[in-house]
Amino acid sequence: MQENITTVPAIDAKGARIPLLGLGTWDLRGRTCARVVEQALRLGYRHIDTAEMYDNEREVGEGLRASGVKRNDVFVTTKIWPSHFAPRELERAARDCLVRLRSSEVDLLLLHWPNPQIPLAETIGALCKVKRDGLARHIGVSNFTVPLIDEALRLSSEPLVCNQFECHPFLDQSKLIAACRENGVAVVAYSPIAKGRVRGDETLTGIGAAHKKTAGQVCLRFLVQQDIVVIPRTSKVERLSENAAIFDFSLGKSEMASIAALARRDGRLVNVVFSGPQDWD
Ligand SMILES: NC(=O)c1ccc[n+]([C@@H]2O[C@H](COP(=O)([O-])OP(=O)(O)OC[C@H]3O[C@@H](n4cnc5c(N)ncnc54)[C@H](OP(=O)(O)O)[C@@H]3O)[C@@H](O)[C@H]2O)c1
Repeated sequence: MQENITTVPAIDAKGARIPLLGLGTWDLRGRTCARVVEQALRLGYRHIDTAEMYDNEREVGEGLRASGVKRNDVFVTTKIWPSHFAPRELERAARDCLVRLRSSEVDLLLLHWPNPQIPLAETIGALCKVKRDGLARHIGVSNFTVPLIDEALRLSSEPLVCNQFECHPFLDQSKLIAACRENGVAVVAYSPIAKGRVRGDETLTGIGAAHKKTAGQVCLRFLVQQDIVVIPRTSKVERLSENAAIFDFSLGKSEMASIAALARRDGRLVNVVFSGPQDWD
Protein backbone atom coordinates (compact mmCIF):
# COMPACT_ATOMS: atom_id res chain seq x y z
CA MET A 1 0.00 0.00 0.00
CA GLN A 2 1.51 3.31 -1.06
CA GLU A 3 1.17 6.21 1.34
CA ASN A 4 0.44 9.67 0.00
CA ILE A 5 2.75 12.50 0.91
CA THR A 6 0.72 15.37 2.29
CA THR A 7 2.98 18.26 1.29
CA VAL A 8 6.54 18.46 0.14
CA PRO A 9 8.22 21.57 1.57
CA ALA A 10 9.89 23.90 -0.91
CA ILE A 11 12.82 26.28 -0.74
CA ASP A 12 12.93 29.75 -2.19
CA ALA A 13 15.88 30.62 -4.43
CA LYS A 14 15.79 34.03 -6.09
CA GLY A 15 12.05 33.78 -6.59
CA ALA A 16 12.00 30.09 -7.61
CA ARG A 17 10.00 27.82 -5.27
CA ILE A 18 11.75 24.48 -5.62
CA PRO A 19 10.20 21.45 -3.89
CA LEU A 20 12.85 19.88 -1.65
CA LEU A 21 12.05 16.42 -3.04
CA GLY A 22 12.00 15.59 -6.73
CA LEU A 23 12.07 12.43 -8.82
CA GLY A 24 15.28 11.74 -10.75
CA THR A 25 14.66 10.06 -14.10
CA TRP A 26 18.09 9.29 -15.54
CA ASP A 27 18.01 5.83 -17.15
CA LEU A 28 14.22 5.52 -16.85
CA ARG A 29 12.85 4.79 -20.30
CA GLY A 30 9.61 4.08 -22.13
CA ARG A 31 6.63 2.69 -20.22
CA THR A 32 8.60 2.39 -16.97
CA CYS A 33 9.45 6.08 -17.05
CA ALA A 34 5.90 7.21 -17.78
CA ARG A 35 4.49 4.88 -15.10
CA VAL A 36 6.95 5.92 -12.38
CA VAL A 37 6.42 9.63 -13.13
CA GLU A 38 2.64 9.16 -13.05
CA GLN A 39 2.74 7.24 -9.75
CA ALA A 40 5.18 9.69 -8.16
CA LEU A 41 2.85 12.59 -8.94
CA ARG A 42 -0.17 10.64 -7.70
CA LEU A 43 1.70 10.06 -4.44
CA GLY A 44 2.47 13.75 -4.00
CA TYR A 45 5.85 14.35 -5.67
CA ARG A 46 5.72 17.78 -7.32
CA HIS A 47 9.16 18.01 -8.91
CA ILE A 48 10.54 15.96 -11.79
CA ASP A 49 14.13 16.07 -13.07
CA THR A 50 14.88 15.15 -16.68
CA ALA A 51 17.35 16.17 -19.42
CA GLU A 52 17.53 16.10 -23.19
CA MET A 53 20.34 13.55 -22.78
CA TYR A 54 18.10 11.12 -20.84
CA ASP A 55 16.00 10.54 -23.95
CA ASN A 56 12.83 10.36 -21.84
CA GLU A 57 11.25 13.82 -21.96
CA ARG A 58 8.33 12.46 -24.00
CA GLU A 59 7.62 9.83 -21.37
CA VAL A 60 8.02 12.35 -18.55
CA GLY A 61 5.36 14.49 -20.28
CA GLU A 62 3.11 11.44 -20.75
CA GLY A 63 3.40 10.47 -17.08
CA LEU A 64 2.64 14.04 -16.06
CA ARG A 65 -0.53 14.19 -18.15
CA ALA A 66 -1.65 10.69 -17.06
CA SER A 67 -1.29 11.65 -13.38
CA GLY A 68 -4.10 14.19 -13.59
CA VAL A 69 -2.00 16.68 -11.63
CA LYS A 70 -2.15 20.16 -13.14
CA ARG A 71 0.94 21.16 -15.10
CA ASN A 72 1.25 24.35 -13.04
CA ASP A 73 1.44 22.34 -9.84
CA VAL A 74 4.56 20.44 -10.96
CA PHE A 75 8.10 21.80 -11.05
CA VAL A 76 9.78 20.36 -14.17
CA THR A 77 13.52 20.67 -14.71
CA THR A 78 15.33 19.78 -17.91
CA LYS A 79 18.92 20.27 -19.05
CA ILE A 80 20.70 21.22 -22.23
CA TRP A 81 23.58 18.99 -23.28
CA PRO A 82 26.96 20.79 -23.73
CA SER A 83 27.21 19.99 -27.46
CA HIS A 84 24.24 22.38 -27.86
CA PHE A 85 25.81 25.36 -26.09
CA ALA A 86 26.43 27.54 -29.13
CA PRO A 87 23.76 30.27 -28.84
CA ARG A 88 21.55 29.30 -31.82
CA GLU A 89 21.87 25.60 -30.95
CA LEU A 90 20.89 26.24 -27.33
CA GLU A 91 17.67 27.98 -28.27
CA ARG A 92 16.77 25.23 -30.76
CA ALA A 93 17.58 22.53 -28.16
CA ALA A 94 15.39 24.28 -25.56
CA ARG A 95 12.48 24.45 -28.03
CA ASP A 96 12.96 20.72 -28.83
CA CYS A 97 12.75 19.89 -25.10
CA LEU A 98 9.41 21.71 -24.88
CA VAL A 99 8.08 19.87 -27.94
CA ARG A 100 9.01 16.51 -26.41
CA LEU A 101 7.53 17.44 -23.02
CA ARG A 102 4.48 18.94 -24.78
CA SER A 103 4.75 21.96 -22.53
CA SER A 104 4.94 25.66 -23.31
CA GLU A 105 7.70 26.25 -20.74
CA VAL A 106 9.84 24.42 -18.21
CA ASP A 107 10.19 25.56 -14.63
CA LEU A 108 13.95 25.24 -14.62
CA LEU A 109 16.39 24.94 -17.51
CA LEU A 110 19.98 23.96 -16.71
CA LEU A 111 23.29 23.80 -18.52
CA HIS A 112 24.00 20.09 -17.96
CA TRP A 113 27.83 20.24 -17.75
CA PRO A 114 30.30 23.05 -18.39
CA ASN A 115 31.72 23.08 -21.92
CA PRO A 116 35.14 24.77 -22.13
CA GLN A 117 35.01 24.62 -25.94
CA ILE A 118 32.37 27.36 -26.10
CA PRO A 119 32.81 30.72 -24.32
CA LEU A 120 30.62 30.71 -21.22
CA ALA A 121 29.57 34.31 -21.89
CA GLU A 122 27.88 33.23 -25.15
CA THR A 123 26.14 30.25 -23.58
CA ILE A 124 24.93 32.19 -20.55
CA GLY A 125 23.74 34.97 -22.85
CA ALA A 126 21.70 32.43 -24.85
CA LEU A 127 20.33 30.84 -21.67
CA CYS A 128 19.19 34.26 -20.42
CA LYS A 129 17.52 34.96 -23.76
CA VAL A 130 15.64 31.64 -23.62
CA LYS A 131 14.33 32.71 -20.22
CA ARG A 132 13.38 36.19 -21.41
CA ASP A 133 11.56 34.58 -24.38
CA GLY A 134 9.42 32.65 -21.90
CA LEU A 135 10.67 29.12 -22.61
CA ALA A 136 11.93 28.67 -19.03
CA ARG A 137 10.62 30.25 -15.82
CA HIS A 138 14.02 29.91 -14.16
CA ILE A 139 17.53 29.04 -15.26
CA GLY A 140 20.56 27.49 -13.61
CA VAL A 141 23.59 25.29 -14.04
CA SER A 142 24.75 21.78 -13.23
CA ASN A 143 28.18 20.37 -12.43
CA PHE A 144 29.67 23.85 -12.09
CA THR A 145 32.73 24.19 -9.84
CA VAL A 146 33.31 27.13 -7.47
CA PRO A 147 35.26 29.21 -10.03
CA LEU A 148 32.73 28.43 -12.74
CA ILE A 149 29.76 29.35 -10.58
CA ASP A 150 31.42 32.69 -9.82
CA GLU A 151 32.04 33.30 -13.52
CA ALA A 152 28.51 32.29 -14.51
CA LEU A 153 26.99 34.60 -11.90
CA ARG A 154 29.14 37.48 -13.12
CA LEU A 155 28.08 36.89 -16.74
CA SER A 156 24.38 36.33 -16.20
CA SER A 157 21.86 39.14 -16.56
CA GLU A 158 19.13 36.86 -15.14
CA PRO A 159 19.14 35.12 -11.73
CA LEU A 160 20.83 31.70 -11.74
CA VAL A 161 18.72 29.84 -9.21
CA CYS A 162 20.53 26.55 -8.78
CA ASN A 163 23.60 24.42 -9.23
CA GLN A 164 22.82 20.71 -9.51
CA PHE A 165 25.75 18.46 -8.61
CA GLU A 166 26.67 15.13 -7.05
CA CYS A 167 25.98 15.33 -3.34
CA HIS A 168 25.61 12.57 -0.74
CA PRO A 169 27.24 11.67 2.58
CA PHE A 170 30.18 9.82 0.98
CA LEU A 171 31.41 12.98 -0.79
CA ASP A 172 32.51 16.21 0.90
CA GLN A 173 30.92 19.03 -1.07
CA SER A 174 31.02 21.56 1.76
CA LYS A 175 33.04 24.19 -0.17
CA LEU A 176 30.79 24.06 -3.21
CA ILE A 177 27.68 24.14 -1.02
CA ALA A 178 29.05 27.18 0.86
CA ALA A 179 29.84 29.00 -2.41
CA CYS A 180 26.28 28.38 -3.65
CA ARG A 181 24.79 29.55 -0.35
CA GLU A 182 26.83 32.75 -0.33
CA ASN A 183 25.29 33.61 -3.70
CA GLY A 184 21.72 32.53 -2.94
CA VAL A 185 22.03 29.63 -5.40
CA ALA A 186 19.99 26.56 -4.42
CA VAL A 187 21.86 23.26 -4.12
CA VAL A 188 20.19 20.37 -5.92
CA ALA A 189 21.80 17.04 -5.00
CA TYR A 190 22.03 14.40 -7.69
CA SER A 191 22.84 10.79 -6.86
CA PRO A 192 21.58 11.73 -3.35
CA ILE A 193 21.49 8.09 -2.20
CA ALA A 194 24.87 7.42 -3.81
CA LYS A 195 23.21 5.36 -6.55
CA GLY A 196 21.76 2.98 -3.95
CA ARG A 197 25.12 2.42 -2.17
CA VAL A 198 23.79 3.90 1.08
CA ARG A 199 21.95 0.66 1.68
CA GLY A 200 24.00 -1.47 4.02
CA ASP A 201 26.05 1.42 5.39
CA GLU A 202 26.38 0.71 9.12
CA THR A 203 26.20 4.31 10.34
CA LEU A 204 23.13 5.16 8.27
CA THR A 205 21.43 1.87 9.13
CA GLY A 206 22.16 2.33 12.84
CA ILE A 207 20.78 5.87 12.90
CA GLY A 208 17.81 4.68 10.86
CA ALA A 209 17.01 1.95 13.41
CA ALA A 210 16.63 4.62 16.10
CA HIS A 211 14.07 6.49 13.97
CA LYS A 212 12.42 3.43 12.34
CA LYS A 213 13.77 4.60 8.99
CA THR A 214 15.93 3.02 6.29
CA ALA A 215 19.50 4.04 5.46
CA GLY A 216 18.21 5.72 2.29
CA GLN A 217 15.69 7.79 4.23
CA VAL A 218 18.34 8.88 6.76
CA CYS A 219 20.62 9.89 3.89
CA LEU A 220 17.90 11.94 2.17
CA ARG A 221 16.89 13.50 5.50
CA PHE A 222 20.52 14.50 6.13
CA LEU A 223 20.43 16.51 2.89
CA VAL A 224 16.95 18.09 3.10
CA GLN A 225 17.62 19.08 6.71
CA GLN A 226 20.36 21.32 5.25
CA ASP A 227 17.89 22.78 2.71
CA ILE A 228 19.49 20.75 -0.06
CA VAL A 229 17.01 19.63 -2.73
CA VAL A 230 17.13 15.86 -3.40
CA ILE A 231 16.13 14.07 -6.59
CA PRO A 232 16.42 10.32 -5.88
CA ARG A 233 15.61 8.02 -8.79
CA THR A 234 13.84 4.71 -8.61
CA SER A 235 12.41 2.46 -11.28
CA LYS A 236 10.28 0.74 -8.61
CA VAL A 237 6.94 2.26 -7.75
CA GLU A 238 7.07 0.69 -4.26
CA ARG A 239 10.23 2.66 -3.45
CA LEU A 240 8.67 6.03 -4.28
CA SER A 241 6.95 6.33 -0.91
CA GLU A 242 10.03 5.15 0.99
CA ASN A 243 12.10 7.90 -0.61
CA ALA A 244 9.42 10.48 0.13
CA ALA A 245 8.88 9.65 3.81
CA ILE A 246 11.64 11.99 4.98
CA PHE A 247 9.68 14.93 6.33
CA ASP A 248 8.25 13.30 9.48
CA PHE A 249 11.43 12.98 11.52
CA SER A 250 14.60 14.94 12.17
CA LEU A 251 18.20 14.09 12.90
CA GLY A 252 20.06 15.35 15.96
CA LYS A 253 23.28 17.35 15.86
CA SER A 254 25.51 14.36 16.65
CA GLU A 255 23.69 12.20 14.09
CA MET A 256 24.25 14.89 11.44
CA ALA A 257 27.95 15.02 12.41
CA SER A 258 28.34 11.21 12.19
CA ILE A 259 26.79 11.22 8.72
CA ALA A 260 28.99 14.10 7.54
CA ALA A 261 32.01 12.10 8.73
CA LEU A 262 31.24 9.37 6.16
CA ALA A 263 32.80 11.50 3.38
CA ARG A 264 35.88 9.94 1.80
CA ARG A 265 38.37 10.93 -0.85
CA ASP A 266 37.16 8.36 -3.39
CA GLY A 267 33.48 9.13 -2.74
CA ARG A 268 32.72 10.62 -6.16
CA LEU A 269 30.59 8.31 -8.32
CA VAL A 270 29.94 10.37 -11.45
CA ASN A 271 32.86 11.10 -13.76
CA VAL A 272 33.33 14.52 -15.22
CA VAL A 273 31.99 14.37 -18.77
CA PHE A 274 33.51 17.50 -20.25
CA SER A 275 37.06 18.56 -19.57
CA GLY A 276 37.72 21.96 -18.09
CA PRO A 277 38.58 23.35 -14.69
CA GLN A 278 38.59 20.32 -12.41
CA ASP A 279 38.89 22.30 -9.23
CA TRP A 280 35.73 21.23 -7.43
CA ASP A 281 36.67 23.30 -4.41
N1 LIG B 1 23.12 16.76 -13.63
C1 LIG B 1 23.79 15.64 -13.78
O1 LIG B 1 24.87 15.59 -14.40
C2 LIG B 1 23.24 14.39 -13.17
C3 LIG B 1 24.06 13.26 -13.02
C4 LIG B 1 23.51 12.14 -12.41
C5 LIG B 1 22.19 12.14 -11.99
N2 LIG B 1 21.40 13.23 -12.17
C6 LIG B 1 19.97 13.27 -11.76
O2 LIG B 1 19.88 12.83 -10.41
C7 LIG B 1 19.00 11.72 -10.32
C8 LIG B 1 19.39 10.81 -9.19
O3 LIG B 1 20.72 10.35 -9.29
P1 LIG B 1 21.10 8.86 -9.74
O4 LIG B 1 20.03 8.32 -10.57
O5 LIG B 1 22.49 8.93 -10.26
O6 LIG B 1 21.25 8.07 -8.35
P2 LIG B 1 20.41 7.90 -6.98
O7 LIG B 1 19.09 8.54 -7.06
O8 LIG B 1 21.34 8.25 -5.87
O9 LIG B 1 20.24 6.32 -6.90
C9 LIG B 1 19.46 5.61 -7.82
C10 LIG B 1 19.70 4.11 -7.57
O10 LIG B 1 19.32 3.79 -6.24
C11 LIG B 1 18.33 2.76 -6.24
N3 LIG B 1 17.33 3.13 -5.22
C12 LIG B 1 16.33 4.05 -5.31
N4 LIG B 1 15.65 4.11 -4.15
C13 LIG B 1 16.23 3.23 -3.32
C14 LIG B 1 15.97 2.86 -1.99
N5 LIG B 1 14.99 3.41 -1.29
N6 LIG B 1 16.76 1.90 -1.43
C15 LIG B 1 17.77 1.35 -2.13
N7 LIG B 1 18.07 1.65 -3.40
C16 LIG B 1 17.30 2.61 -3.99
C17 LIG B 1 17.75 2.75 -7.64
O11 LIG B 1 17.40 1.43 -7.99
P3 LIG B 1 15.88 1.00 -8.33
O12 LIG B 1 15.55 1.65 -9.63
O13 LIG B 1 16.01 -0.49 -8.40
O14 LIG B 1 15.04 1.48 -7.19
C18 LIG B 1 18.92 3.22 -8.48
O15 LIG B 1 19.76 2.14 -8.83
C19 LIG B 1 19.11 11.08 -11.72
O16 LIG B 1 18.10 10.16 -11.98
C20 LIG B 1 19.09 12.32 -12.58
O17 LIG B 1 17.75 12.82 -12.69
C21 LIG B 1 21.92 14.36 -12.74
